[in-house]
Amino acid sequence: MKSESNSRFPEWPIWDEGDVHAVESVIRSNNWWCGAPGTPAGRNVWEFQKEFCAFQESNHCVAVANGTVAIELALLALGVGFGDEVILSDYTFVASASAVVGVNAVPVFCDIDPDTLLMDVNRVEQLVTSRTKAFIAVHLGGNPVDMEGLGAIAEKHGLHVIEDCAHAHGSRYRGRRVGSWGDAGTFSFQASKVLTAGEGGAVVCGGRELADRIYTLSDCGRKKGEYFYSHYEYGSNCRMPELEAALLRTQLARFPAQHRLRNENARYLSSALNSIEGVRVMRPTEGAGELGYYILPFVFDPAKFGGITKDAFSRKLNEAGIPTDDPYPPLHSLHCFKNSALRRGIDYSNANWGGAKSDDRNFPVVSDVYKRSVQLAHNVLLGGREELDYVADCVAGCGHSTDRRS
Ligand SMILES: Cc1ncc(COP(=O)(O)O)c(C=O)c1O
Repeated sequence: MKSESNSRFPEWPIWDEGDVHAVESVIRSNNWWCGAPGTPAGRNVWEFQKEFCAFQESNHCVAVANGTVAIELALLALGVGFGDEVILSDYTFVASASAVVGVNAVPVFCDIDPDTLLMDVNRVEQLVTSRTKAFIAVHLGGNPVDMEGLGAIAEKHGLHVIEDCAHAHGSRYRGRRVGSWGDAGTFSFQASKVLTAGEGGAVVCGGRELADRIYTLSDCGRKKGEYFYSHYEYGSNCRMPELEAALLRTQLARFPAQHRLRNENARYLSSALNSIEGVRVMRPTEGAGELGYYILPFVFDPAKFGGITKDAFSRKLNEAGIPTDDPYPPLHSLHCFKNSALRRGIDYSNANWGGAKSDDRNFPVVSDVYKRSVQLAHNVLLGGREELDYVADCVAGCGHSTDRRS
């Protein structure tokens, strides 16, 4: 949840008359939806797919309704479904896991690395069973999961890898954009994201066959180039609206400059925050380049801050005009995952959550990190150097002393 604050930082989203004009043009065109490939109505969804694909340096992109269905479509297209197990980080928004439940598969939660705050790739292999079909690599805060390490384990066990890039627009790992390391990468354009039209999502992937299959599943079972009323298999309607795509295109044009600034500022602010005793900013994974920086999380040592709670810490920052996002409660602790009978007919007996299995002691790292985390919202990273110094001073001031280590 985003904090309300009388912020000295740019309000999110950022828009101008160009965005208004783009949306107005769609309204005036009378083409309010994308139509079908070969018989397009509007052109914005099709153009946005090309532009986003080029930005993400991927081969194919299917624009969809939101980031949750993007994950569901990727899973379905890869043949992950009934009773299959999918391993993902315990520290993410519920959608990374509810999408797994949505395709009648079983999410299995992996504890995190205390420094990168990502799924601990050293722990994933012990969670693999004969029912495991895929990993979802969630690039929290835009920080890329160790895709080389995960890829090697996936290959060894014959598993698919989907990258949940909802926080990671523009992130790079070992020189390559995220989303193209696994079988498919999924994105969200929901209101708080660094690229947004209020809602929206996309799946990117390398192979045409997979992209076509994702398209078919997202558009009523249609096939590209075929008669409009031919429905070849089950497919829902997950299409992106034309008005949304028009807005995403103007937002995407603005994105690279914002992305550069967020990265420069994140480096500067991380260094200032890491110089405060008892503060440790999310450590970029080895091999990470630029990061999407949907959030900038840091973990604090309460003993160095007079025993302060994370809620009180965030509140103090909000009162000082610094916006924060609430950290995600670990998935194993959510009400829905304490109830191990989410869907009738699915065998959840292998799940490592539900009832007593959801005890925090079974997920020690994330349970500890969650209690001592603060997440700065991404618009903090669009401020000037003076504002960033102010953030570091306020963080230091949340402790007894306002001194920063030199
Ligand atoms: C990590 C992660 N994955 C998936 C999603 C789902 O995206 P959407 O809200 O567009 O469905 C979100 C949304 O916040 C997210 O944070």
